[in-house]
Amino acid sequence: MRVCVIGTGYVGLVTGVCLSHIGHEVICVDNNEEKVKLMQSGQSPIYEPGLSELMKSSSESGRLHFTSDLAKGVNHGEILFIAVGTPPLPTGESDTRYVEAVARGIGNYLNCGYKVIVNKSTVPIGSGDWVRMIVLDGVAERQKTLVTTGGSPVKESEIQIETNFDVVSNPEFLREGSAVYDTFNPDRIVLGGNSEKATAMMEELYQPIIKREFAEDKSLPAVPVVVTDLSSAEMIKYAANSFLATKISFINEVANICDRVGADVTQVAKGIGLDSRIGSKFLQAGIGWGGSCFPKDVSALIHTADDYGYNAELLKSAVSVNKRQRLTLLEKLQHELKILKGKTVGLLGLTFKPDTDDMRDAPALDLIEQLNRLGAKVKAYDPIVSQSGLSHGLSNVIIETNAEMLADGCDALVLVTDWQEFLKLDYSKMAKSMINKTLIDGRNFLDRKAVEEAGFRYVGIGR
Ligand code: UDX
Ligand code: UDX
Repeated sequence: MRVCVIGTGYVGLVTGVCLSHIGHEVICVDNNEEKVKLMQSGQSPIYEPGLSELMKSSSESGRLHFTSDLAKGVNHGEILFIAVGTPPLPTGESDTRYVEAVARGIGNYLNCGYKVIVNKSTVPIGSGDWVRMIVLDGVAERQKTLVTTGGSPVKESEIQIETNFDVVSNPEFLREGSAVYDTFNPDRIVLGGNSEKATAMMEELYQPIIKREFAEDKSLPAVPVVVTDLSSAEMIKYAANSFLATKISFINEVANICDRVGADVTQVAKGIGLDSRIGSKFLQAGIGWGGSCFPKDVSALIHTADDYGYNAELLKSAVSVNKRQRLTLLEKLQHELKILKGKTVGLLGLTFKPDTDDMRDAPALDLIEQLNRLGAKVKAYDPIVSQSGLSHGLSNVIIETNAEMLADGCDALVLVTDWQEFLKLDYSKMAKSMINKTLIDGRNFLDRKAVEEAGFRYVGIGR
């Protein structure tokens, strides 16, 4: 099918590339010219395992194109994905100005044939109807220019053609660092809308994925498709992310109690996770959640609740537990080193999670700010950030290009991101080059016994 994806960020680019990989003809549109040039040259502006290989093969097959020309994309696609960012405003609500700009632009260029407009971006609940209204505004704007520029008055039938579209909500559940995998191996596909024709087209679009043709395990039953109304589909996205974030804050709360009663939260997580009603995933206690989704989606849902006069106190507590969790690391450092002023602290990992280059709301950034405020010297090594020269929020951090060199002269090491490569470091060599041999494991990721045998004083979170 002919697809246009507007916004080539973490979600849009992955969606466009994967849809072209399964056989669709995709045009990706982005208003960032240098990003478009980079993608036209075959390079991905983001780090996602497996993405650049698929980008290359799909571009070579002629099924994937990049442009900044929205009109071209709208004309091409029978299915138009809106995948531009919806970052949080200071108030916590979603900034939907980009979605509005794109929806209006689509309206300006709608011309022939029935189109399905898909909300892929996470938009506030009730936005589906709002997007429809904005698109119609764009259509009206165009008609006005037609008439006012002396063009022949728009015929009734032409107006009919231009409003010949439906809006569908198709929220994404992609985890950064495994977005390609998650696209081909979804637990479910959610389609929200009130048009059977649009829903049918979306199910046709996703057929190869529904039938597991690109799945790791092709023997699994077909992917369940949840077809519901627009608001419920939008709520599913917010509720899923808010539940996962709350589950993490829950285990972090338990970890903080474990710290005081001498229990081991990793054992507790194992023991409760085996209960099929709880499940073992997302029970990894540590410095807490960051990234571009959880913080934004939970605060947006809280904001929506407030808008409708409901105080979402459970969600608010999940957010405050998470905020406080970042200070736990600092408290442990102070407990170990007493005065931090003049001390050198080495951070292992900077990104909000492994296998991504995304620093948005990374817990490391808060920790760096606190350490600088207390006069500590901060060094850091991150497998991606150290190579990519990403400097956002890292102006006064010494970036090392080698994890073992990082330890040189440090009073303490703090593991902030659970990158796989940190399991294979030569910790005994690192301990020898340190003044004070403290290692705080912010993700309960390392083998405590091995680290202690290497000469460190190991400090975990609730362990
Ligand atoms: C996405 C979804 O938009 C968000 O709702 C979801 O919760 C997380 O993933 P993300 O892909 O991270 O957000 O957005 P971002 O990385 O900010 O990329 C958005 C892209 O859209 C950028 O490349 C930007 O250049 C482009 N853009 C933005 C447009 O093409 N047009 C615009 O008007 C605005
Ligand atoms: C999340 C959702 O998982 C995904 O479905 C949604 O589409 C986008 O938001 P993402 O934010 O990319 O994906 O990463 P995720 O793997 O969910 O981790 C989010 C944060 O929680 C990270 O900071 C991670 O370190 C933290 N986390 C995760 C924990 O602290 N403990 C855990 O057990 C799991």
